[in-house]
Amino acid sequence: MEVIQSIADLRSRIREYRRKNDGSVGFVPTMGYLHEGHASLLRKARSQSGLVVLSIFVNPLQFGPGEDFERYPRNTERDLEVAEAAGADLVFMPSVSEMYPTPTRTTVAVSGLTSRLCGASRPGHFDGVATVVSKLFHIVQPDQAFFGLKDAQQVAVIQQMVQDLNLPVDIVPCPTLREQDGLAMSSRNVYLSDEERKQALVLSQALDKAKEFVQSRPNFNAAELESLVRNHIATAPLAVIDYAEVLAFPTLEPFENSTHIDSIILALAVKFGKTRLIDNVIIQLR
Ligand code: PAJ
Repeated sequence: MEVIQSIADLRSRIREYRRKNDGSVGFVPTMGYLHEGHASLLRKARSQSGLVVLSIFVNPLQFGPGEDFERYPRNTERDLEVAEAAGADLVFMPSVSEMYPTPTRTTVAVSGLTSRLCGASRPGHFDGVATVVSKLFHIVQPDQAFFGLKDAQQVAVIQQMVQDLNLPVDIVPCPTLREQDGLAMSSRNVYLSDEERKQALVLSQALDKAKEFVQSRPNFNAAELESLVRNHIATAPLAVIDYAEVLAFPTLEPFENSTHIDSIILALAVKFGKTRLIDNVIIQLR
């Protein structure tokens, strides 16, 4: 495994690989502090691609004022161990000035899909994501790129961007990995106190309750399902709901009754103290 800091070095290393091999280039973009969720994307890439490229870059553009850019957890040494064990070949770790040497005047903005959920509660967040992912795609030029459905709206935004801009890359959505008790793995879980960590289980429990509810009633009102979920989250005294929304998937459009809907997403963002956790489930109705 090779660690590369500069764009020029990464490009020449990938060019060399392509000159000598027929295999495809698989890409896993991350912000580091790697856990099993990230490792699962790398393993998937390892199984499908000849060269596996991982990027670790905490992208300032996707953090709003007052968010956790400064304190976002970092541990390069451990990240490199996880990366190596999961099968990465090249690890791209650029500095902020390597990625943004001059103030950015070009932004990639995906409209519509970003008006709800995290797009509504984190203004500008998805412009920052789409811009950095588009830059990374131009730098790496991967054949496949692997994204976790833990961030389902991010997957929808990236797929839309790839389609709209004819980017020659296949987006491979991958399932959410969870701790044994159900909590979705996240780099931000380290922020939680013991008590917050316990109470954070209401997210995955609420998703399970929603799945049960829907299984027994294929036709239901979105509002009914939302209130079931909200009521369960409210059983955790430290939980402050940012959003708990039921939308059609993958359009992310709201609906009243599910009669004509094939697939839904129930998406949650809940704060425990300063820590904002997200989780979701996508349910096929028919
Ligand atoms: P980050 O939060 O580090 O996540 C990197 C990738 O890992 C994303 O595709 C995310 O969905 C996936 N991931 C995170 N937790 C997961 C879990 N529990 N199970 C499966 N996959 C999981 O998402 C970002 O970074 C950034 O927005 C990025 C795309 C790198 C752009 O800066």
